Amino acid sequence: MGPRNVTVVGLQWGDEGKGKIVDALARICRYVVRFCGGANAGHTVTVGEETFAMHLIPCGILTEGVTNVVGNGVVFDPPVALEEIDNLRARGIAIGPENLRISAGAHMVMPWHKQADVLSEQALTDGKKIGTTGRGIGPCYSDKAIRSTAIRVGELLQEDAFRRKVYDVATVKNKVFSALYDAETLDPGKIAEEYVEYGKKLGPMIDNTGAILRKAIASGERILFEGGQGAMLDIDHGTYPFVTSSTVTACGVPTGAGVPPSAIGQVVGIIKAYTSRVGAGPFPTEQDNEIGETLRERGREYGTTTGRPRRCGWFDAFAVRYAADLSGVHELALSLLDVPTGLDEVKLCTGYRVGGAEVERFAPSVMTDAVAIYQSLPGWSADISSCREFDDLPAEAKDYVGALEKAIARPITFISVGPERTQTIVRQTQIEGLE
Ligand code: GDP
Ligand code: IMO
Ligand code: MG
Repeated sequence: MGPRNVTVVGLQWGDEGKGKIVDALARICRYVVRFCGGANAGHTVTVGEETFAMHLIPCGILTEGVTNVVGNGVVFDPPVALEEIDNLRARGIAIGPENLRISAGAHMVMPWHKQADVLSEQALTDGKKIGTTGRGIGPCYSDKAIRSTAIRVGELLQEDAFRRKVYDVATVKNKVFSALYDAETLDPGKIAEEYVEYGKKLGPMIDNTGAILRKAIASGERILFEGGQGAMLDIDHGTYPFVTSSTVTACGVPTGAGVPPSAIGQVVGIIKAYTSRVGAGPFPTEQDNEIGETLRERGREYGTTTGRPRRCGWFDAFAVRYAADLSGVHELALSLLDVPTGLDEVKLCTGYRVGGAEVERFAPSVMTDAVAIYQSLPGWSADISSCREFDDLPAEAKDYVGALEKAIARPITFISVGPERTQTIVRQTQIEGLE
C-alpha cells in the first residue's frame, strides 16, 4: 500500500480556493484527476507573478511528474480545452500524453448544448433563472441521461462514424430548436469537420482513464481527486434547483473517475473565510450591503469563468457542517483569511430560524426562508499575508479559526493568507509527505 489518496472538495458554493490547494498538494501525488463538472469551473493558481486560470485542465498541470486526468464524469468541451492547452504551452508548460489524459467515456459538450443553455435561461422569467455559466453543462448532462443524443469523447477517434453521428444528432437538435425557440439552425457538416479537427489534436491524449487509475491504485501510486464547484451546488444535495448538474461531493469520485469508493482516501474540505455565490438561489448569510461590497472588492470576487460579480456574505457554518458530513471530510483548508482583515467584527452563522423557531436539522430546502443566527467575534487589523506559522496570526484571527473548527467539528490544517503558492500555513495535517 502506498500513501493514502487525497480528495479535495469545495464545501460552499464553489470558488473556495480549490485550485490553489490542489496545486500545493500535487507535488506529493502521481495523478491529479477531475471527476465532475466541466468548463463551468474556474480554478486559479498563482505562482510568483504569474496567474493561471484552469477550466478543464486539472491543476496538477503545473507540477512536473504528475499525470493529469479528465475523468469520465466530466463534461468535456474540446475548443475550451484546446484553447487552455495552447495558452499553457505559450507560457512554457509542455502538454502531451505524458502529462494529460482525457477519458474516452467523458461526455462531449457540443455547440447545441451551449445554445440550449443560453436559450433556456433566456426563456425563464426572473426568479426562475438559475444563472448558469452558459457553458452547456446542464444540456450536456441531460443528453448523457437521455443517451440517444449524447456523444462521448472516444467517438472522436472514429472519424466517419463520428461525422454520421453529428449529422444525426444535429438534425434532431435543429428540429427541437426551431420548434421551441425559433432559433438559428445548426450546420451539421461544419460542426462535424470542426470537431474532427479537434479530435486530431486531442487523439493522442484520449484514453481509458479508469483503467489507468485502477492500475495506479494497485501499484500504490498516489492519486489526488480535484473537485469542481461546491457541495451546495451538488445536483442531489445542494440548493436544488439552483445547483449544477453533477455530483460534486466526494461521493462523485468513484463514478466520475472509475475507481472504487475506497480510493477516495483523505478528504480535504475547502472553505473560504466568508461565503460567495455566483448565480441565483438562496443565501441566508448574504450581505447585500457595505460588508458584502468590502468582501467582494478585497477578495476580488468576480467569476473566473464568466466575470460576473459574486454575491458575498458571512461564513455559514451551519451549511458547511452539513457539507463536511456529506463528503466525509477529515480535515479543512481555510482560504482567503486575509480578506476579512480590517473589519471590526467577523460573524459566523451557527444556525437558522424559520418563522421564529430555531431549525433543528440542516437541509438546503430550509434556506429559502431562513434567518441566520450569528456568533460575532472581534476582527483583526494587522496584515496577515506574510504569516507562515499559526502563531504568527493575531489572536483574533486565531480565535476565528478556532470558532470555525468548533462549529464544523473538524480541524483546519491549511490556512491560506494570499493567492500565491507560498502564502500558506500548514498545521497538523494527516496527509503524509508534505514535510
Ligand atoms: P476555486 O474555483 O475553488 O479553485 O477558486 P477560484 O480560483 O475560482 O477563486 C479563488 C480566488 O481566490 C482566486 O482568484 C485565487 O487566486 C484567490 N485566492 C486563493 N486563496 C487565496 C487567499 O488565501 N487569499 C486571497 N486574497 N486570495 C486567494
Ligand atoms: P468552481 O469549480 C462557482 C454555478 C453557476 C450557477 C450554477 C449552475 O470554480 O468552484 P452551471 O453552468 O454549472 O449549470 O451553473 O452553478 N457554478 C459555479 N459557481 N464556482 C464554480 O466552479 C461553479 N460551477 C457552476 O454560477 O449558479
Ligand atoms: Mg472557481
